[in-house]
This record gives sequence, structure tokens and C-alpha cells, in this order.
Amino acid sequence: MPRNPMELNTDFSLKALNTFHVEAAAATYVRFDSVDEIIDFLGRNDLDGHRRLVLGGGSNLLFVDDFDGIVLHPLLKGIDVIKADRRHIWVRAMAGENWDDLVALAVSNGWAGIENLSLIPGSVGASAVQNIGAYGAEVKGVIDRVEAICIRSREQVRLSAKECRFGYRSSNFKRRWAGQFIITAVVFKLGLEPDFVLDYPGVKAAVQAMGPITLDRVRRAIVSIRQSKLPDPALIGNAGSFFKNPVIDGDALARLLTLNPDLPYYPQGGDHFKLAAGWLIDRCGWKGRQVGAAAVHHRQALVLVNLGGAAGRDILELSEQVHRSVFERFGIELDREVLVVP
Ligand code: EPU
Repeated sequence: MPRNPMELNTDFSLKALNTFHVEAAAATYVRFDSVDEIIDFLGRNDLDGHRRLVLGGGSNLLFVDDFDGIVLHPLLKGIDVIKADRRHIWVRAMAGENWDDLVALAVSNGWAGIENLSLIPGSVGASAVQNIGAYGAEVKGVIDRVEAICIRSREQVRLSAKECRFGYRSSNFKRRWAGQFIITAVVFKLGLEPDFVLDYPGVKAAVQAMGPITLDRVRRAIVSIRQSKLPDPALIGNAGSFFKNPVIDGDALARLLTLNPDLPYYPQGGDHFKLAAGWLIDRCGWKGRQVGAAAVHHRQALVLVNLGGAAGRDILELSEQVHRSVFERFGIELDREVLVVP
């Protein structure tokens, strides 16, 4: 388990810190409990030229090998209301808070906007890196700003949602700024009047079955839908969807539909259509298939699981086989959602 803050741990096992539960050792690991500790540490250690990884909840990465660099693990805690007006409340959550604890707190206080994102594993800081999304909502819709420390200059910066350029499971933290910042807090602008988003298939019916629509019932419906399909990472190693849902144009869609008339697709505006990668993988016959201790989940083919004792490279190898099958059958190159750490 994580040792004392700012203590440099060498040859440190990351098994308990990644939800695939694969064995990997960090050459160096250091955890932080405050912004000051991070700034102080960066002042005393020059990280230029060192491989580094900022770890959140470890729920969206796959270690393929030992990590021969430094793992920086901010575990900053705290949630505060920083302002409110008649319609909104601004809530600042530190990066190391558990995402779903924040959702539970928001729902119990009647703060709306993240209830559809219930039960997503991971930390508040990572929610912004990844622009987490589920059941018709994405966190970008409620992020006001992100606070971070620039690793090189040690300066604290505030990045507006616009600067972060959030996209589908992506942001500048994954692209232009990769490896440059340590996120310390995220400020969310939540609603004091709910604006329910219930269009995702199955959501409205599940909520209405409980009675009149409330934030708490939406949360409970989402939790139950997730639990019925997705494996609990505490029980079975996984990192949620392994691949992103591919987006294709109308011509490509028309070609696919001639051979696969039941192909699900979701118009994204313009000539863009999102496909369900889980459906494509399922159609290739992968659902529930096991290769050694790695497997494709039996209820959701987009999720790869560690049945116990799989190495990171076993899961990577399985993902490559899945990728190849989907390409051979449908001509579609799946992009990974999970960050593979070589
Ligand atoms: N499907 C199959 N077989 C499968 C899996 C899915 O046929 O094995 C079909 C379903 O029947 C449905 C369609 O594919 O018609 C979509 O499935 P689902 O509603 O389960 O959602 P998804 O597109 O597979 C995405 C997100 C999930 C998120 C759900 C709900 C991505 C990559 N994944 O999955 O996010 O929870 O929608 O909004 O966008 C994650 O990012 O880790 C994650 C779990």
C-alpha cells in the first residue's frame, strides 16, 4: 500500500493500484497528500528525462511491464462549495477524491449533472483527463475549470473547460499536454434544478419503475444497470470499456448495413455515426471467450477481464486478437480507450 507522503519508494508494487490487478513494479513511486507537497517535491527533484506517470484511480490503464520511471500519485482530498447562485452551485473537488463518492454527495445534496455518471470507477482528477461519460452524459458538461501544477515550472494553473478541449473520452491532458501537468482539483458547475437525461436505452424505464423521477432514483437506476452488465473491478480485474466506440461516415455505415442490417448506430451530427464496439466484438464471437487468465467479459464484450493471475501482456495480447478480428470482419480499426503503459 502507499507509504508516507513524499517518501520515495523503490521497486514498488502497483498491483493494488490498478483495477486490472496485474502485477507491475514502479522503479520509483511517490504519493502526495497536498498541493504544497507536490510543489516542494518538484522543486527538489528534476523529473526531466525521467519516464513519469501520474496515477489516479488506476481504472483506465494496463501495465504491460514493470514501469522503469517514476509514478506520481496525488491523493489530495477535500470537497468544498465555492459559490452558488440561484441556479447553480460550484463544487471544487480535490483530484484524489473517489469519483463515485462525489456523485453520491452531489445526489444527496440535490446537485444535478453527474447522476448519470454514477459508479464509474476512478478518481476526480482522472474524470477530467478522460472526460468520463455514460448513459447520455459526459463530465465535460459540468466541468467549469481544472486546477493543475505544471511539472516543469512548478506553477499552479487554472485551465478553463474550453482550454481543456474535451472530446469523446479525451482531452488535452491526453493529447497536447500529456505528461505536463498534475491535476490537483476540478471545479464542477452543478445544477440546483435537475435537468434529467434519460434518453439512453433502458434508463427511463428503469427510473420510472421506481416512481416519480428524482436524482436519487436516476442514480439507483444507473447503478443497477451498470451492475447488471459490468464486472465490479473490486471482484474481477478490468478497466471498463477497453476500446472506444468507433465513429464512421455515412458511406462506410451504408456499406456495413448492407451486410449487417441489425448493426446498431448512433448519429452524432453531420456525417458522423458512432458504432457499438461491444456489438462488433460480440459478433466476432468473442463474448465470454477466455485466453489463459484473460477473457472477454461474458455480459459486455467491450470489457476485457483478468480472471485471476493474468499478466498485463496476456490482456494486451487478447486485445490485439480482438482488434484483428474486428478489422478482418468489419474493416474497422478499434482505438483503445485504456491507456497501455509499456
Ligand atoms: N452490445 C452487444 N454485445 C455486447 C455489448 C454491447 O451487442 O457484448 C450492444 C448493446 O446491445 C447495445 C450496444 O452494443 O446495443 C451498446 O452497448 P452498451 O449500452 O452496453 O454501451 P457501450 O457502447 O458498449 C458505452 C461506454 C460505456 C458506458 C456505456 C453506457 C464507450 C467506449 N463505452 O458502452 O463506458 O458505460 O456506453 O453509456 O463509450 C467506459 O468507458 O469504460 C464505459 C464502461
